[in-house]
Amino acid sequence: MERELALEIVRVTEAAALASGRWMGTGKKNEADQAATTAMRAVFESVQMEGVVVIGEGEMDEAPMLYIGEKLGQGNGMQVDVAVDPLEGTNIVAKGLWNAITVVAVAPRGTMLHAPDMYMEKIAVGPKAAGKVHLDATVKENLQAVAKAANKNISDVVAILLDRDRHQSIIEEIRSAGARIKLISDGDVAAAINTAFEDTGVDIMFGTGGAPEGVLAAAALKCLGGELQGRLKPANDEERERCKQMGLSNPEQILLMEDLIRGEDAIFAATGVTDGELLRGVRYLGNERATTHSLVMRAKTGTVRFIEARHQLNKKPHLVFV
Ligand code: FBP
Repeated sequence: MERELALEIVRVTEAAALASGRWMGTGKKNEADQAATTAMRAVFESVQMEGVVVIGEGEMDEAPMLYIGEKLGQGNGMQVDVAVDPLEGTNIVAKGLWNAITVVAVAPRGTMLHAPDMYMEKIAVGPKAAGKVHLDATVKENLQAVAKAANKNISDVVAILLDRDRHQSIIEEIRSAGARIKLISDGDVAAAINTAFEDTGVDIMFGTGGAPEGVLAAAALKCLGGELQGRLKPANDEERERCKQMGLSNPEQILLMEDLIRGEDAIFAATGVTDGELLRGVRYLGNERATTHSLVMRAKTGTVRFIEARHQLNKKPHLVFV
């Protein structure tokens, strides 16, 4: 993929963050999501690529914008699959909590898993422990592998997971193994990414969250040399059938990095909406200025960029969606 696309894509996540950040603390998660989606869709129009949404806001009949199959971009660049989560952490923004981000990943056409909107069991680690954990290993074995890879004691390892009743047995296993735990209300894409950055203080992510979020996190970890393994959790026959239509003869097979995103290339961008361990949230500075903090990365080259941008909103009316 052309390297310019990375900087184009970050304009898209910045716009979504600038739009949805306005809704912080309002209690209105749908409005925040809508603002992010509208902004993202608008800026995609100026991007030079021939994109097709493979992970988006839903099927064509249920989402007016960024629906699966929608064509994106000016239609004059590279043919790519596009995965979006215009606002990852709608409740986070509604409550003004931590780690809401706007997310886009692109990869050469036909290389991204078209993950259906269902749950996925996941395990994610950064580069040190990549290749050393396994979804079917016990929680303790995985924690030991992470500790060994980082040359630390198991009591120094921090596991991050969504605070959900379904994770009770994993939580108990982590506690009995002696590791530390960080429970989060939402946002397992940011959680998975954070495992690849030592400063965030988390080493491994466990648990079940959205399957689309699993593919997005895999794109990020591909750029970072980390690893995510997933297993779809179809809840009924209809969801099982959807898995089969995607070409998965066994819907519950373990999906490795190569199954989630094939090949060498992927671009991932995220912009902070609310503050997080890795990215700062949007600041509205007055005088129609605002700042954003983004992460943009490319798997092929391994380049990881953090971009701080100051926006003069009155000069960019197309970025003001409130
Ligand atoms: P939304 O931004 O769509 O609200 O999703 C947030 C999220 O926490 C994801 O990060 C996670 O994968 C999923 O929801 C977990 O789903 P559930 O809330 O049903 O446990």
